[in-house]
Amino acid sequence: MERGERGRQEVVVRFDRVSLSYGRRRVLEGASFTVEGGKVVAIIGPSGAGKSSILKLIMGLIRPTAGRIEVFGVEPYLANHDGSLRGRIGLVFQEGALFDSLTVYENVEFYLRYVERVPPAQRRRRVMEVLEKLGIEEAAGQMPNELSGGMKKRVALARTLIFEPELLLYDEPTTGLDPLTTEVVDQLIVETNRRLGLTSIVVTHSLDTVMEVADEVLMLSGGKINQVGSPEKLLTSEDPRVKAFTAGLRRLIAAGQKGSPAEGVDDQHRH
Ligand SMILES: Nc1ncnc2c1ncn2[C@@H]1O[C@H](COP(=O)(O)OP(=O)(O)O)[C@@H](O)[C@H]1O
Ligand SMILES: [Mg+2]
Repeated sequence: MERGERGRQEVVVRFDRVSLSYGRRRVLEGASFTVEGGKVVAIIGPSGAGKSSILKLIMGLIRPTAGRIEVFGVEPYLANHDGSLRGRIGLVFQEGALFDSLTVYENVEFYLRYVERVPPAQRRRRVMEVLEKLGIEEAAGQMPNELSGGMKKRVALARTLIFEPELLLYDEPTTGLDPLTTEVVDQLIVETNRRLGLTSIVVTHSLDTVMEVADEVLMLSGGKINQVGSPEKLLTSEDPRVKAFTAGLRRLIAAGQKGSPAEGVDDQHRH
């Protein structure tokens, strides 16, 4: 399949009864789920449940102990070795991991220049294009330590988008950010997905982020995935593990607002 040929509803990621162990530590046990093209899917679950491991499996950095994984129709661990998924998957780290001694422009340019050795004119065009897409072209000459948290996240995202991935993976993009920056980053995730026609998977601890960005929620616990559905379904689910996750939010809503929990979350969704 060629780039850009995929339809909206196509399955981009498929886990079929996937198990994963690190030595004797069992992390996944028969986890199954699918992610459709064009969606923003949130993966939630307790710390240590295996969320980052799922992203590593999708990128083909590790291979499952049992079961089958397909990303764009191919097995990612094998594809990682024969190069057939090259450039199609982008990872946005929790910490932007910017080079402090390089400008924004140089940070975004880095891999094109030193790893891919793209010629200067072409490089300049691609860097400026991605900076403009994210609305940070004015900051091109600034140093990372002159930037706000939200701007740093944009630069980190630019460094990933320069490769024009079709599937974007975010590992806890808003952990440790203040509420305002969290909102900026949440909007950025949604905007990027819509404008560039990507598929996005967002691992997060933040229920705010889930409500703001997700078309669909996957809950990981006990080594299995519960494909919950829309974020609103989180609040009506009878699954005790889902209930435990949302209990904190339910209490907040009950304390602060009148009306049903679903309405409360809708209000929050729109603000
Ligand atoms: N390379 C590794 N070797 C051994 N154990 C690991 C490794 N990576 C992760 N783990 C363990 O696997 C479990 C799941 O890790 P991880 O996928 O990072 O969870 P999460 O992202 O949900 O917090 C944790 O108990 C972690 O300590
Ligand atoms: Mg993690």
